[in-house]
Amino acid sequence: MLSGTLSLISNPLPSPHWILGPFTFDVGILSIFGDLDAKYKEELKKNYFIMDKGYNSFPTNIPGTTYNKALTERSPGKRDLLAYLMNFKDENGNHLTENQIADNIIGVLFAAQDTTASVLTWILKYLHDYPKLLESVKAEQMAIYESNERGNRPLTWAQTRSVRLTHKVILESLRMASIISFTFREAVADVEYKGYLIPRGWKVMPLFRNIHHNPEFFEDPHKFDPSRFENS
Ligand code: HEM
Repeated sequence: MLSGTLSLISNPLPSPHWILGPFTFDVGILSIFGDLDAKYKEELKKNYFIMDKGYNSFPTNIPGTTYNKALTERSPGKRDLLAYLMNFKDENGNHLTENQIADNIIGVLFAAQDTTASVLTWILKYLHDYPKLLESVKAEQMAIYESNERGNRPLTWAQTRSVRLTHKVILESLRMASIISFTFREAVADVEYKGYLIPRGWKVMPLFRNIHHNPEFFEDPHKFDPSRFENS
């Protein structure tokens, strides 16, 4: 996938983000629904991208719809997010409503899918810009691929922790691209910070992009340099 997608970068169309979007969606679906039947997965994918375009009401739990089938055909023993949400009880023993379950699923899919596709797209762009780095990342990945009998054995958690160069490239891409530029918090009480009063009820907006590109924290901040995360 890496080489195929990289060749698309030199080509104006299609955008790698279009390719990576459905890929990250599959990962999201796997963690939420487990090993879902391919037919339902395709239908959910169609529905999700309609929702993603227009923020429509997906998933609609009407009998006969794909979402309803995905919900009703589950075995309670499964250990994925949907099973967790369906089995969840509050302190009074109440289960979540179907709308609450749907909201949570949309929330996680939305939070996971586009962010991951965006950062993967930026990683590909930076690797494309730094061919020597690309070679080193490929060598790191290929060593694992080979030791897993050319992909016949699954990736282990320990292996995902061992790819030090790849990890630094991910961190530096996240810093440089700052794909989520900000978040906000509401002050629940009056707060004094560096001589400023933030009154209760006011919103504070930390700008990640400014922090990530501030030379006080990151020397030569506009330079793509994964080695700055050497000790991370
Ligand atoms: C590179 C990828 C990602 C980036 C940059 C990113 C970034 C963020 C940021 C900045 C927030 C808001 C934090 C805050 O204001 O407190 C957030 C929240 C959240 N993200 Fe991500 N995220 C990424 C991937 C994911 C993935 C893969 C998932 C799920 C599998 C996910 C699930 C969530 C959820 C559920 C929240 C809300 C948490 C809460 O409100 O307690 N994110 N993410």
